[in-house]
Amino acid sequence: MRFYIKNYGCQMNLYDSTRMTDALTTAGYTESKKKDDANILIFNTCSIREKADEKLFSDLGRAKSLKFKAKDKGEDFVIIVCGCVAQAKTTEITNRAPYVDAVIGPQEIHKIVSAIKTALNKNDEDEYIFMNAMEAKEKFENLQSNQITKRSCSEFLTIQEGCDNFCTYCVVPYTRGREFSRDVADIIEEAKRLISLGVKEITLLGQNVNSYRGEGPDGKIWSLSKLLYAMAEVEGLARLRYVTSNPKDVTKDIAEAHRDIKILAPFLHLPVQSGSDKILKKMNRKYSVNEYLDCIEMLREYRHDMAFSSDFIVGFPGETDKDFEDTLKLAEKVKYAQAYSFKYSPRNKTAAAKMDNQILEKIKEERLKILQNLLNDQQNKFNENTIGKTVSVLFTKKGKFKNQLVGRSEYSQAVSICDKAIHIGDMANVKITELKSHSLLGSIEEK
Ligand code: 5AD
Ligand code: SF4
Repeated sequence: MRFYIKNYGCQMNLYDSTRMTDALTTAGYTESKKKDDANILIFNTCSIREKADEKLFSDLGRAKSLKFKAKDKGEDFVIIVCGCVAQAKTTEITNRAPYVDAVIGPQEIHKIVSAIKTALNKNDEDEYIFMNAMEAKEKFENLQSNQITKRSCSEFLTIQEGCDNFCTYCVVPYTRGREFSRDVADIIEEAKRLISLGVKEITLLGQNVNSYRGEGPDGKIWSLSKLLYAMAEVEGLARLRYVTSNPKDVTKDIAEAHRDIKILAPFLHLPVQSGSDKILKKMNRKYSVNEYLDCIEMLREYRHDMAFSSDFIVGFPGETDKDFEDTLKLAEKVKYAQAYSFKYSPRNKTAAAKMDNQILEKIKEERLKILQNLLNDQQNKFNENTIGKTVSVLFTKKGKFKNQLVGRSEYSQAVSICDKAIHIGDMANVKITELKSHSLLGSIEEK
């Protein structure tokens, strides 16, 4: 049978989708690049904001007609919902979309093959397969790295899952469960496997990578920085990144790692969420604006060219004009290389959803627009500053034009070149000559 996975949301989900693809291809299923061509549809969903989870229900509507068409012809057809919406809205899914066969939470995706087999053998359309344990341990024990057969030159590697922070807006602790860290040996083995398949850049993933506490080969608990040093020793790895960091957990050893490790990109995604101490407190972020700024300064001290990105939430309950202005002020101070910003979206079970003083949609929209204009300007300025300089680019895909390749600099900027001598997977020094919308153009300086 042919399967198609639609992925929504974050990088953790993307990683889970690739691991499901590995398991399914190993079990003899064929990956289909088009939804209409598949007879197993898998939706790997995201629940972070309301928009993301409403998207699932509209996509399921279309999947329903494909399933009914197949059934009319007497053919098998399986629909599976995985990921965070599967965990958070298990019964709502089968109530609203009774034609779904299985609902599988993020920590159960290693059971995808057996879920399909059970779905194909069930007699009753009203019988559902629910898998929603919250423990990540079993998932990683079951995902075999020898199942990994095909990868691009830049890949994710999940080292840590779940979250114990309980930021008051965030649904993640309720969908991915408590924090869990994989063993160092397991991570290194997967990294080696990826490199043997041509991977040049690895991004270590976790909801909260800075609270990584995995067991090392010496039987002791290792921190993220210790893992970064070990990853840097893996032969053939050209660039290393990690995401996402909580500012409250960024310690001096991380700054030292940025100073010491050549392949560690001088770029950090450090979500601040708000520039108001009052709002940060209500969000339960456990750092103040000054502590955040000190953290940025420390990192820049150890690695002078360190660039930053961030996430922002506007319109959190109780956010006044003054609180919002403080957010703008903070962004002015940091000067981000890039950033993401969102309107606050109340999520089920979270503390903030029950708070007084919810902000009107219209005000959220106005604030978002103002913040996004500022962040956009900052990104342009950061990129303009690169003109005339040389950056190191890993080329990951073809561009729109003949012989054009696109890649990312060490600061995560999109860079395009036209050069027949360069191929996907090459890393090269590029002299930047021009900025076009959000993309930099340049030419190869030396290979
Ligand atoms: N509403 C809006 N944005 C949210 N995020 C997390 N939860 C919410 C929510 N309820 C944003 C945060 C986080 C990013 C992944 O998504 O900025 O860092
Ligand atoms: Fe959500 Fe906070 Fe965990 Fe990030 S650290 S996933 S914002 S609870």
